[in-house]
Order: sequence, then structure tokens, then C-alpha cells
Amino acid sequence: MAVNLARLRLWLALAVEFQGEVPPPLPNLDFKIELGDSLTGPAPADAVCQDIFRHHDLKQLRELKARFLRPRSGSEREDLLRQIEELEQSIADWIHPGEETDGFDWQVRFAEVFLRPVEQEIADPEDLPGFDIVLTNPPYVRHGLIPARVKRLLQRRFPHVHDGAADLYVYFYARAIELLKPGGVLAFISSNKWFRAGYGRKLRSFVARECAIQSITDFGELPVFESAATFPMVFIALRQRCAGQTPLFTQIRSLEPPYPDVLELVRRDGRRLPPEAFQEDCWTMTDLETIQMLRQMEIGTLPLGEYVNGQFYYGIKTGFNTAFFIDGTKRAELIAQDPASAEIIRPLAVGDDIRKWRIRDRDRWLILTRIGVDIARYPAVFAHLGGWQRQLEKRYDRGDYWWELRACSYYERLTGRRSCILSLRWSPASPTTATAASPTTKPSSSLWMICFCSGS
Ligand SMILES: C[S@@+](CC[C@H](N)C(=O)[O-])C[C@H]1O[C@@H](n2cnc3c(N)ncnc32)[C@H](O)[C@@H]1O
Repeated sequence: MAVNLARLRLWLALAVEFQGEVPPPLPNLDFKIELGDSLTGPAPADAVCQDIFRHHDLKQLRELKARFLRPRSGSEREDLLRQIEELEQSIADWIHPGEETDGFDWQVRFAEVFLRPVEQEIADPEDLPGFDIVLTNPPYVRHGLIPARVKRLLQRRFPHVHDGAADLYVYFYARAIELLKPGGVLAFISSNKWFRAGYGRKLRSFVARECAIQSITDFGELPVFESAATFPMVFIALRQRCAGQTPLFTQIRSLEPPYPDVLELVRRDGRRLPPEAFQEDCWTMTDLETIQMLRQMEIGTLPLGEYVNGQFYYGIKTGFNTAFFIDGTKRAELIAQDPASAEIIRPLAVGDDIRKWRIRDRDRWLILTRIGVDIARYPAVFAHLGGWQRQLEKRYDRGDYWWELRACSYYERLTGRRSCILSLRWSPASPTTATAASPTTKPSSSLWMICFCSGS
């Protein structure tokens, strides 16, 4: 679908831009827009074509592909196709003899981009192997949903950015950088989570080392894509090492006009970040004064991780929130049908409910059917969950039976009377509720740590 849309988009652009009486036939885009798994194929190394016969093959491939854009007849098209396929096979045998490759073989399918004759002087950057631009809107696929076989391949192909918990888009960054010629442009729209997440650590170091970051445009929590909370961000960089990163950083705060004119927003609100913002895998998207304040705070203060003895938890994964998250009305209904239901219905807060200084109470509840729950004791809850039995059976995150939640070693901590959510907030204002502690080294404006206690 994405491939056909891209072809259609290019043809429309040609039709719209055409000036004249009789438009030429639309070009064949088969070898310009290709389809395949972009990640699992081998890396397109900077291969040099050593012998004169290979040199001839490459030259011929370029010519055949150029003619294929506009063949004069159906039979010429078929003939060109056959010759191109034969040449590609011969290049594949030469590059990785006797090897079956997984995924899309960039070096073969775009041999004219990645291979160069040995005698070619590379005086002009135009002649460097690799693409000039890689423009990507990669898929977001949580690590738990990536098949184990693919995960193993990705680990082998991309050890420099691999992390067991990495989202699929992380590998797209690594591949995109490999596909670029030196000085080429990387343009991504992807989640911004890798800036902070543990799984993005290796990718951050790699990008900081290999790229000159030009611009980061962060949409934060704004719903740019209606279907999902993806934390989108536009990331532009050059494949080029640089001594100190000073990209433009733009925090988009609203989707009101001039949005969608993102360039205008970048011009209006973009600020240069200092090189100190990118220290290997430690990225801090803020100005120098704030970075210095943060560094100062790190001296002689107790990090939050130590304060809670490293006991940070993910929360609860249900695998199918539609069945397990209920509102107050549904809760009342289940308890009215069977008072015992109250024993396994707990108050619920999701990440977005944690607001400045408080938890937003949206009267939402969680059905907590742990592994081993005596479900016969809770007929109303059982009947409610039964409405989604088929979906619940198919969950990745589930217990032994379809009505159970997955195993979790810290349920007690999340559901006990003194369960506690910690949230760090930047604000010059003083908190008015809950427990607050100022840091021992107080910077120029106030940073407070606040603890919210949810009674249950
Ligand atoms: C977020 S969509 C973007 C689609 C399109 N490029 C656009 O911008 O509208 C991600 C696309 O990547 C495709 N995709 C997923 N895994 C892929 C892979 N390993 N290799 C190539 N494409 C993949 C999906 O099928 C989907 O079309």
C-alpha cells in the first residue's frame, strides 16, 4: 500500500508539473521504488568493483534501468526486465557467493547506488556510494511484538544499537545511516522515546558519534497521529562526524496555525541547543543554564533511583485494556450484581493522569484478576470479561487462563494501601499539597520532588 501510494504520488507530481501539449507516458518506477524488508538484509558496505568485467556489468545495469523507465513496447519492457534480473543475480553471486540473504538486498537491488568502479576518482561528492537522502516514517513496533526470529537477526545485523527492549524504529535509524553517503541527509518522523529510554542508549551514542544533528522538532504529547499516542518528533541530521552538536530544537506546543507549516514553527520557535546537551548517550534537550543547573544538582544529592532503592515499576500490563479498565458506572454495576466484585476492582491511574502536583481522578478502575484468582467467587466480573473472551485468549500478556492478568512480582506494591507514584516536575511554583522536599543544593529556580500517595 505505502509503495503504491508513493508511486502514485510521484506520477501525480509529474502530471501536475508537466507543461506542454502532449504529456509523455508515465515512467516505470519499478526499479526506483522497491518493496522489501528494509532491515533484515545485509548492510550495504562500501564495496569497490575490482575487475573490469564487473565494471562493465555495473555500467550496463545503469543503462538498462534508465531505458526501463520508458520502454518503447511491452516486449522491450519484458526483455529489459529479464536482462536486469540476470545482471542482479550475477552481482549477488559476486557480492555474497552462495549465500541466501534475508530481507531486501540493498547492495544488489540498488547496485548502481552502492557499487563503484575501482578506478573512479571520487573528487565529486555526487559520486560517493550511498543515497543522498533517507526520508523515513518507520513503523513503531514494541519489542514484545517483534517475532523472536526477527529479533535475533536484528541483533546480529545491528549490534551497535541493539537492545532487547528496543522498538523496531531504533533499527531503522541504524539502517538509514548505513544507506546514506557521507554528508547525506537523514530525515525521520518517529517517536521521541529513544532520547530518554534505556533502550535508546546505544542509538544515542551512535547518532552522536556518526551524525551532525541539524534539527529536532518535538511534538511532545500532541495528537499528531489520531490513532495512537506516539510522541512524534522530526529528526534531521547529516551523516557526518562533528565536533560539537548545536542543532535547532523546537518544542511544538499547539496544533493551531501556523501548524501544519512546521518550517514556520521552527523558524519562529527554534532554539539552538549547546554541545553540552549531547554527551554520548546522555541527551538533555534544554539550554546551557538548565543543563548546568541539572549537573549542579547531581553533586551531593540523592538520585531518585537510590531514594526508592531502585524500585521503579512498569505499572500493570493487561494485554487488553478494553476489558480490564472500567469506569465508575460499570464498577457500581458489577458490585450491585455481586458485592464480592469490589475485592478485585482497584482504582486506576494511567501515565496521563499524573498532572502537576496531583493525580487527575477520572473515576477509572482496574479489574485485577491475578493468576490463581478463584474466578468462581466473582460471577459478575467473570461475565463482564467473558464479553471479550476471544480477544483475551489471544493476549501475549496473560496468565494461565484467559481471565487472568500476566504474572507480576510487584502487584502487592501497586495495590497496597500505601502504593505511591513518584513524579518529578520542573516548576518555579511551590507545591501546595503532598510531601515535598527541596534538593540539598538549591539551584537558581526551584526544582521540587513530589510524592503522591494513592490510598486504596
Ligand atoms: C508508519 S508507516 C509509514 C508509511 C508511509 N511511509 C508513510 O509515511 O505514509 C510504516 C510503514 O513501514 C512498513 N514496514 C514495517 N516493517 C517494515 C520493514 N521491516 N521493512 C520495510 N517496511 C516496513 C509498514 O508496512 C508501513 O507501511
